[in-house]
Amino acid sequence: MTDWNSLYASRMDGVVASDIRERMKLLAAREIIHLGGGLPDPEIFPYDALSAASQAIWADRALARTALQYAPSEGHGPLRTWIAEYLTRTGSPCGVDNILITNGSQQGLDFIAKLLLSPGDTAMVEIPSFIGALRAFDAYQPRYLGLPEDADDWRAETLSGAKFCYVGPDFRNPTGTTMTLDERNALLDLADTTGMALVEDGCYEQLRYDGAPIPSLLSLAIARHGDIEKIPVLQTGTFSKTIAPSLRVGWIAGPADAIRKLVLIKQASDLATSALNQMLLLEVVKTHLDASIAEACTVYRARRDSMLKALADNMPEAVRWTMPEGGLYVWVELPDHMDATVFAQRALAEHSVSIISGAAFYPAGASNVAVRRNTFRLSFSMIGADPARTGVERLGVLVREMAVV
Ligand SMILES: Cc1ncc(COP(=O)(O)O)c(C=O)c1O
Repeated sequence: MTDWNSLYASRMDGVVASDIRERMKLLAAREIIHLGGGLPDPEIFPYDALSAASQAIWADRALARTALQYAPSEGHGPLRTWIAEYLTRTGSPCGVDNILITNGSQQGLDFIAKLLLSPGDTAMVEIPSFIGALRAFDAYQPRYLGLPEDADDWRAETLSGAKFCYVGPDFRNPTGTTMTLDERNALLDLADTTGMALVEDGCYEQLRYDGAPIPSLLSLAIARHGDIEKIPVLQTGTFSKTIAPSLRVGWIAGPADAIRKLVLIKQASDLATSALNQMLLLEVVKTHLDASIAEACTVYRARRDSMLKALADNMPEAVRWTMPEGGLYVWVELPDHMDATVFAQRALAEHSVSIISGAAFYPAGASNVAVRRNTFRLSFSMIGADPARTGVERLGVLVREMAVV
């Protein structure tokens, strides 16, 4: 019998299953209150607009031919143009050559790591960080360095040598927090002095529920350097949270030279993103993006509010949590001595509530990072006011139980 373990490449050593994906398999069978996973709510998908776009494609043989053919590796031209114009309109002047279409922004993160990381190179990441990004980077065998929480500690003497720094400035997954304008400028300063690239994950940028928008790193860098071709930023974007994730359409925006290299990676990886899905999306975003974003914000704002109220009503004083202005997540800090991994196991086994313990969001082996084991992530994306209250009530009971032991 073949010994598969002896055949796997060394890059697979660091690759582990996502806690969340594994847990979702387990959860399918039980009456669980899901406060863990951050799937978009299917209620907000634009069914009618997608149906109309689909019918228009099948009704026109020339469009249908294009839809069923291989798309160019860099992406369907009209969609790339639309994205470039959208970014230009929203403060990041760029052209079609600055855009690569990817299968969701997850593929963008994988490609950027493939572009920049040789084994043993340093990847700097926010602490904690999006699990999907960490898992994508793991396969390229980096050494991890944590971006210190306090921007006063962002000094070139201690933080140089990284190939890139990965950040999600708006409503981060997992903490829900947002990088201030000063922090964004400080990070651009650090990139300019160290020569590293910045990988900006723009996944939640459009999902802002209160407060004024803060310019992206992409737009600040273009303003600072005068031209997208001179900037250190690659930004990943996606329609997963504003239209629908199953279409798997996202993009990378950045200097044309890096985009050309990324196109070669795309070619070697899967040739191209589905032309049909790109065309469907283009038709929908042309007329419905603003309405879809507005609807998503209305639904998720109400859910965030009920989750925050449930926390305020049910958690003991020693528990702290973030107050996200957008996105899908709240980050909760238990008293220092509590282990959130044990807490999450007990919440699921004894109270049928699923959460994701914070340790999952830390990179393996980062020398300057201490894992905060008393943390966990909640998501409110699919949770109405009633289950949020019931779920958080049960978590409150468990905190009190565990805190006195
Ligand atoms: C921060 C962040 N980036 C990227 C992604 C990947 O999304 P997609 O590949 O659907 O664009 C997610 C998905 O939840 C995410 O939370």
